[in-house]
Amino acid sequence: MDETPPADAESDAESGNEVLPTLNMRWVDYAETAATARFTVVARRLPALIHHALRLAWRAGPADTVTTMSLNLMSGAFTALGLLATTGVLAALLAAGPTPDRVRAALPSLLLVGGAAVAQSLLSAAAGWAQARLEPRVQQQVEMELYEVTSRIDLASYDDSEFYEALMRAEGRGSAAAEQVVSDTVDILTAATSFAAAAIAITTLHPLLLPLLFVTALPEAWAAVHVARSRYLMMLETVGVRYHSAILGRLLSDQWYAGDLRSHTMQDFLLTQYQRVAGIYRDAQLALARKNVVTRLSGDAGSGLASGLVYIALGLLLAASWLPLAVAGTAVLAIRTSRSALSNLIHAVNSCYEEGLYLTDYMTFLETARTHLPPPAAVEVPGRFATIAVEDVSFTYPGGDQPALRDVSLTLSAGQIVALVGENGSGKSTLAKLLAHLYAPDSGCIRWDGVDLATADAQAVRAHVAVIAQDHAHWPMTARVNVVLAEHDDAGRLDRAAASAGTDEVVAELPRGWDTMLDRRFKDSHQLSGGQWQRIAVSRGFYRDAPLIICDEPSSNLDARAEHTLFEAIRRHMRERTVVLITHRLANIRHADVIHVLEHGKVTASGTHDELMAREGTYRDLYLLQAAAYDSPA
Ligand SMILES: Nc1ncnc2c1ncn2[C@@H]1O[C@H](COP(=O)(O)OP(=O)(O)OP(=O)(O)O)[C@@H](O)[C@H]1O
Ligand SMILES: [Mg+2]
Repeated sequence: MDETPPADAESDAESGNEVLPTLNMRWVDYAETAATARFTVVARRLPALIHHALRLAWRAGPADTVTTMSLNLMSGAFTALGLLATTGVLAALLAAGPTPDRVRAALPSLLLVGGAAVAQSLLSAAAGWAQARLEPRVQQQVEMELYEVTSRIDLASYDDSEFYEALMRAEGRGSAAAEQVVSDTVDILTAATSFAAAAIAITTLHPLLLPLLFVTALPEAWAAVHVARSRYLMMLETVGVRYHSAILGRLLSDQWYAGDLRSHTMQDFLLTQYQRVAGIYRDAQLALARKNVVTRLSGDAGSGLASGLVYIALGLLLAASWLPLAVAGTAVLAIRTSRSALSNLIHAVNSCYEEGLYLTDYMTFLETARTHLPPPAAVEVPGRFATIAVEDVSFTYPGGDQPALRDVSLTLSAGQIVALVGENGSGKSTLAKLLAHLYAPDSGCIRWDGVDLATADAQAVRAHVAVIAQDHAHWPMTARVNVVLAEHDDAGRLDRAAASAGTDEVVAELPRGWDTMLDRRFKDSHQLSGGQWQRIAVSRGFYRDAPLIICDEPSSNLDARAEHTLFEAIRRHMRERTVVLITHRLANIRHADVIHVLEHGKVTASGTHDELMAREGTYRDLYLLQAAAYDSPA
């Protein structure tokens, strides 16, 4: 395959379509990654891969690993024994004398050949069983290893598109590759053992036969390696288009987009895009298939030719009487055995090489991802704090060109309701996420009673914060789990949390109450409305017994009654907690202890409602605008 990336889907000017908005996909750094796929690089890495595979196997099932390996070795020994015994059989059968005598003379060797064949079959069946038990465990272990890391890395990692792409690659192919590399490693060992057995047998028969045997394998090995490398490079080249077409496929089939797709009549637009992008991948696959047919054919032809040469050499040895007929007969058998073992070995090495490239993706990702884990921290944060101080905090999202927060300083005192207001994109949710310790400031710090959160254990801090997120998750679980989440399930607490935003009314209508599944993909489930989901999300925040509660637009989808209930609940029940409240409905924050106004990532004004209304500024403007909308005649 040509080693230049295919034309970018975005710049496909020949499609004949008018200029359509596209998803603006990015390519991986192809040249750099392709360089790592060179055979010499991989050959050098192969021992490390095998070592890694064996370690994985050992951790997943030490007993099965040892059993698989030792049974395969024993099976190889019986292959050699069978081959050597064959010479005895042939020598006895080809000796001079009456046939019954010759058969009788061959009998002990024949029994040995038969016994060795039975033992070899039984041993390799047992080894296969142990291997079959091992592989699923390896896969599970690798997936666990991956999810352990992905669930703990800092949230900012997800905003780094390159990192996210590596994650997708590791998850999509890397974990399956681990299982395959383990299986290939066992196959390499098996094939190598039986090849070694046959090679020993052949060398015992005549030392010249062994190098000849290697010659037959070379063309096949060359072809196999080339095919694998081309396939991997094609996969690399098309990472962008495959990613793009998977996204388009989702847009065309996912329930979330189904309504919009229809109401905006986007079918043809999306289908055309899909066809265009998928077409690039299809063409790359076809080009690869064409190229690989030629490579394989050349390899097979070369191997065939080399095999012919080996048999001619054998004939010449026989003709020159350098080899007795019985030995030549065994040699033919041994050559066949070793040819098939060598062929298996080549395929296993080759598959290990190809899957090893994916496993390397996975291992590299894991290595990088581990550097994104929060450092272990011994500093305790106070469970109940007196103040939280935000000191000169600035923050830019990874890849962002503008800071989302600039030199923000403010103080939250225990028991206060602190409101953050500002126009869209002014940095309210970002500040909320920093307060929830989901992101760390680029400069400045956040202190809980003097303890810098950067030095504290992230999990422990988060355990003290309840978040009602603006873009809250709709967990595909029951209503109960959606509120209780990973907390202790307590009926009284659940009732109180449910009353805070009218979630109890929602649950009362559900066919199975709290135990109703809230995802249409499951049987007997129920689909909630946007506002009903928001009530669930609000109750989540109320359920968590945390001294700091952050409510980011908690009422944007609520009806007037639920909104009233919620803000009443915040005023009445949150007095022992500190509340950070973000809302565009300014009437709801009139009673906040302090209001901070954010503009372009900066705090431009702070004070109570009355103080802010008493002076010119964004808050007063926005408030009056909303009030006017209510006051204006219908
Ligand atoms: N994950 C992200 N990656 C990159 N930039 C982001 C991300 N989230 C937000 N931003 C950017 O940071 C800025 C502040 O966003 P933020 O979500 O904090 O605004 P907001 O005040 O909460 O707005 P809204 O009222 O619309 O909720 C915006 O310019 C936004 O584009
Ligand atoms: Mg926001």
